[in-house]
Amino acid sequence: MTGAGQRQADPDGTEVAPSAPGFETLAIHAGQDPDPLTGAVVPPIYQTSTFKQDGVGGLRGGFEYSRTANPTGSALEECLAALEGSTQAGTQALAFASGMAAEDCLIRAVCSPGDRVVIPDDAYGGTYRLFAAVLARWGLDYVPVHLSDLAAVRRCLTDQPARVVWVETPTNPLLGIADIAALAEVAHEAGALLVVDNTFASPRLQRPLVLGADVVVHSTTKYLGGHSDVVGGALVTADAEVAERAAFLRNATGAVPGPFEAWLTLRGVRTLAVRMDRHCDSAAQVAEMLGRHPAVAQVLYPGLPSHPGHAVAARQMSGFGGMVSFRVRGGEEAAVAVCGRTQLFTLAESLGGVESLIEHPSRMTHASVAGSPLEVSADLVRLSVGLEDYRDLLADLEAALAAG
Ligand SMILES: Cc1ncc(COP(=O)(O)O)c(C=O)c1O
Repeated sequence: MTGAGQRQADPDGTEVAPSAPGFETLAIHAGQDPDPLTGAVVPPIYQTSTFKQDGVGGLRGGFEYSRTANPTGSALEECLAALEGSTQAGTQALAFASGMAAEDCLIRAVCSPGDRVVIPDDAYGGTYRLFAAVLARWGLDYVPVHLSDLAAVRRCLTDQPARVVWVETPTNPLLGIADIAALAEVAHEAGALLVVDNTFASPRLQRPLVLGADVVVHSTTKYLGGHSDVVGGALVTADAEVAERAAFLRNATGAVPGPFEAWLTLRGVRTLAVRMDRHCDSAAQVAEMLGRHPAVAQVLYPGLPSHPGHAVAARQMSGFGGMVSFRVRGGEEAAVAVCGRTQLFTLAESLGGVESLIEHPSRMTHASVAGSPLEVSADLVRLSVGLEDYRDLLADLEAALAAG
């Protein structure tokens, strides 16, 4: 991976500062200059709905009403744009009240009723529900395809044109990997936009815009916020037309984050790099231990050489992430029991926070895909590996598996 986050080395091996600011520097400084009025080092929470005008239309800094734009939200957006697309001029971000609000706004901004969208056949359950239960009624057609099968994607686009190819990589909860650069090529040949949900990787580990995607989607609720204390979403794109349409629709329909939510998210983003690095290290330990455990039938983690997407993940990601899923040999009841027995891994939905979480996708986060082509097998357990001492996490899981 090139660009932000990469250090260059002198021929003698000593590290030199890169020509552009590194990822950690951008996470702490982009959009976050000290407040010009007071010198406050931390961007203020502009807890205001409206802004005084100096005469009609005399806006200070372009702000008029917080549904349209708010300085705290704008600070977050500037930072997210820098992290996802620092090598691409004109990259813009838009913050939303949730990841689902960002997805809904994007699709309605770039599609019209009658258009078609290719979606992953293992997409996040909420994404599938949005297409199947909401956007289908609006007149959108959607088709689930196995995105690691490039020939299948090409065939699907040849059969019938699509406006968008929607990618999620790694996927929730199966940790499937799709080749972003290859899919960008296939989508663009067919005149479609490539959208990547980058929630599981975060820009620390994967930068889809640099790999050829047109738009990145985030649930900032997860790794970007990082502390399980705020719900939010974002779109990031270097396509000025897409950004303009999405900003128009966001203002017209109103799914903006509050100033405090934007501030909390930005506070989380500052430590994204160090958190993500530790999430990856500990998840690798967990995946390895589970792979050796007799009660575990299969471990799904892109960092394992046995994972079918390992080579692609190694190419397009700088780390394999903090999410691990596994199948329990004893089936559904055994999987549910494991979820109820851990002490440190808290039984809860969501992911990407400092604390470790465990859940049973088929009864919890992915209950909405039951009976659909995206149904998740009932012996599956999903872990969000947090930042506790990894040895405590291993002991917790071993005890929960042994008790069965
Ligand atoms: C991959 C992915 N995309 C989107 C979302 C939706 O985000 P939010 O819950 O912030 O609306 C989630 C939520 O779990 C997710 O895991």
